[in-house]
Parts: sequence; structure tokens; C-alpha cells
Amino acid sequence: MSLLCLVLALSLLGVRGLGDPGPLEDVVIDRYYIPKVCLREVQMGDFVRYHYNGTFQDGTKFDSSYDRGATVAGVAGVGRLITGMDRGLQGMCVNERRHLIVPPHLGYGSIGVAGLIPPDTTLYFDVILLDIWNKEDKLQITTVSKPQRCNRTVENSDFVRYHYNGTLLDGTPSTPAMEKTVLMTPTETTNSDPPVPGLRRERLRHCHPPSSLPGF
Ligand SMILES: *[C@@H]1O[C@H](CO)[C@@H](O)[C@H](O)[C@H]1NC(C)=O
Ligand SMILES: *[C@@H]1O[C@H](CO)[C@@H](O)[C@H](O)[C@H]1NC(C)=O
Ligand SMILES: *[C@@H]1O[C@H](CO)[C@@H](O)[C@H](O)[C@H]1NC(C)=O
Repeated sequence: MSLLCLVLALSLLGVRGLGDPGPLEDVVIDRYYIPKVCLREVQMGDFVRYHYNGTFQDGTKFDSSYDRGATVAGVAGVGRLITGMDRGLQGMCVNERRHLIVPPHLGYGSIGVAGLIPPDTTLYFDVILLDIWNKEDKLQITTVSKPQRCNRTVENSDFVRYHYNGTLLDGTPSTPAMEKTVLMTPTETTNSDPPVPGLRRERLRHCHPPSSLPGF
């Protein structure tokens, strides 16, 4: 291949000089804050809620959820967001913070957004994830301990008394009062209904404490 052909071929492939790496192929993700507790990571099809600041390379802000005074909520990874954001949110934990660099073809492409984003613009996002859930979510039960002797398990319309601690996905307590005692029937609706419907189903599997304990 002659030198001319080689140069032509390289330019067709979009190869640039050494000083200019050219457009990015994929989103660049910088997980600059990862919370210690991460009970769940964003997966395709999850409903997510987040805040973000969007800037151009020179730092000029083009969009910010903070300016609108509302978080952004939507389904991640199913093509409803720009591809760069879809990919950039994957695997994120609640309270995690990420810097994203989104190349034009994963953002608004060679068309841009009239009056807001010029054609072929690389976008810079600063994102904090606030919430994750999915329509397919099911109650997940982990038995931490079970007494050796268990003559009686909770059945429908039993009265039960229990303590519980609730936390959010980032590990922070969801209730100021960490422990409560509630008396109610699992199936009948009473005015002491548990705050989370799943709690009711979970209790059906619970075992009575050892019968040697006083009061039981
Ligand atoms: C976005 O910008 C605001 C105001 O400068 C700042 O308070 C906020 O922490 C930023 N959010 C993110 C996710 O970077
Ligand atoms: C529990 O069940 C065992 C065996 O069925 C029985 O021997 C025991 O007396 C029961 N204990 C109580 C407290 O009911
Ligand atoms: C709830 O949290 C308190 C304080 O950390 C702990 O002592 C208690 O055992 C927990 N209760 C349950 C049911 O996990």
C-alpha cells in the first residue's frame, strides 16, 4: 500500500494525529463517590430517580435538574434516555456520584438540540442517584436466625408482636424510631397496619420464640 493510500485509509477510519484522541467511542464513567453500603445496583429496566448537572467541555451549564427544582425519574437502559445516560447509570448505587463524558453519537448526535446543544457536542454530566425500583420487584426474605424449637409458625389472622429496623437502599434508617412494637392480625386490615405491605406477608413465615422464654 502506498503512503497516500495509507493516509487516505486512516483518515476514512477517523484516525487522527497523536495529540488529538478524536471522539470517544463510549461513555467515560468516573465513579468518584461510591457509598459503603450498596444493597442494589441499577440494572436495565430499573426505574431510577436522580439529580444531574449537564455542562459542555468548557464548563458552561446547558441543563440541570437542580435548576428545575425536581429530580429526574425514568426507566434506565431501555432507550428512553440518551444512550450515554442509559449506559452511564448502569450499575450505579443509591447515593453514588458519577462524572460522565458522553460523546456526541451517544448524546444528541450531529443534529443537537435547537438553541440548546450544538451539533456534534460532547456532554459532561455530574450525576447523583437517589432511588431504584423495578415493577418486577418481589419481596425478598432472608432468615437470619430461627429458634431450634419451633412448634408454631404465624398463620393468617394470628396476633403477632415484633420489632423491626427499616433502612433505605443506602443503609440509612428509614424511620427515626428504630424499633416498634405492633399488635395486629396479618390478614385483617386494622388501624395498626404495617407501613410496608410486604411486612405482613413476611410475618406469616416467622417462628414463635423458644417457649422457655417468659411471656410466650
Ligand atoms: C449540581 O450543581 C449544584 C449547584 O452548583 C450543586 O449544588 C450540586 O451538588 C451539583 N450536583 C451534582 C450531582 O453534581
Ligand atoms: C412442641 O412440640 C413437641 C413435639 O411435637 C412437644 O413434645 C412439645 O411439648 C411442644 N412444646 C410446646 C411448648 O407446645
Ligand atoms: C435494630 O437495631 C438495634 C440497634 O442497632 C439493634 O439493637 C436491634 O437488635 C435491631 N433489631 C432488629 C430486629 O434487627
